[in-house]
Amino acid sequence: MLKINQNYQKLPGSYLFSTIGKKVAAYTQANPMKSIIRLGIGDVTQPLAPAILQAMHQAVDEMGRAETFHGYAPDLGYEFLRNAIVENDYAARGCPIAADEIFVSDGAKSDSANIQELFDQNSKIAVCDPVYPVYVDSNVMAGRTGTYDGESGMWSDVIYMPCVMENSFVPEFPRQTPDVIYLCLPNNPTGTTITKAQLQGWVDYANQNGALIIYDGAYEAYISQDTVAHSIYECEGARTCAIELKSFSKNAGFTGVRLGYTVVPKDLQFDGVRLHSMWARRHGTKYNGAPYIVQRAGAAVYSSEGKAQLKEQVAYYMKNAGVIYDGLKEAGYRVFGGVDAPYIWLKTPEGMSSWEFFDLLLTEANVVGTPGSGFGPSGEGYFRLTAFGSYENTVEALQRIRKM
Ligand SMILES: Cc1ncc(COP(=O)(O)O)c(C=O)c1O
Repeated sequence: MLKINQNYQKLPGSYLFSTIGKKVAAYTQANPMKSIIRLGIGDVTQPLAPAILQAMHQAVDEMGRAETFHGYAPDLGYEFLRNAIVENDYAARGCPIAADEIFVSDGAKSDSANIQELFDQNSKIAVCDPVYPVYVDSNVMAGRTGTYDGESGMWSDVIYMPCVMENSFVPEFPRQTPDVIYLCLPNNPTGTTITKAQLQGWVDYANQNGALIIYDGAYEAYISQDTVAHSIYECEGARTCAIELKSFSKNAGFTGVRLGYTVVPKDLQFDGVRLHSMWARRHGTKYNGAPYIVQRAGAAVYSSEGKAQLKEQVAYYMKNAGVIYDGLKEAGYRVFGGVDAPYIWLKTPEGMSSWEFFDLLLTEANVVGTPGSGFGPSGEGYFRLTAFGSYENTVEALQRIRKM
């Protein structure tokens, strides 16, 4: 008789967005005349840029003719896309990354969840707290995180690196040495990041300790400060200690199109084995490539029209971020993020819990945000608002919050 993977039973359940949904549904049912503004989820709202649409249309037409039809894509992705990635995201920034070190995929979520297949069962992982929950959950499913303590919200075998107001949301080197360090910068949900000099410190630390950094750069397009690195490979020595994950979701609105890539440098060797060979093997066995139409759309992100149009799109969201950040500050809140990321992170007032503040915001301002505690134990007492709504809704939401 089949025995299931019991590790799945250990997952405490992703109550966050379902609880939010239920609370909002109950409130709207009881108050049908109220208009709710949603600044909770991290999904984009602007339509695909014209340059991307055009590329997709062309690719669709190619698929309809025998002489230009494309079947299975190459394992690592089409060269036209990998070359565009290398040229624009790496060579232009002086990062020594080659096209055959890029693995094109259907997004950073699956890559960030799947990458743990390369580590030994007993590897110790370290995560920023709070952070994107996929890193911990995927390791839970693999049986690598020990036991869960419902009281503290922590796993016994995970190293947590608190990112809180007191340390300016900068992760500190943990007391226990990890084997794998997940860094999401700029961070979801805090919207904060670290300087290139601080990141260099992490690269040095990883190299000195024989650790691997999984660097999630999903929000790289939102970086505005010159002191912040756009890629971990801007740091010296990163080729021997870091894998970088990138997504087309937030810079180009591909959340529903699905495209991302992972960089695995050939210099990354552990136990005398190249992680590049392992990931290539995994990719070849378990994945049949992102669709041709989508990869053509991805290449259009790097065209001059695409770049100009997407710069505007990012600016649109960052204008919203400014409205939220300034509005909350003026209303007396302690506010963070929103400068290099589309997320604004606020300290809940008067010692309220994240969920208490959620209820207050829903009932008093009819605005939906995300309780910080849903992203890790150190997120308790914080709250996330996103800049992905429309400008008009964002302005209206802040007017309401200021009146509370
Ligand atoms: C930190 C982080 N990484 C990855 C993703 C998912 O990216 P993708 O849409 O490419 O799967 C998200 C989405 O919210 C995210 O916040």
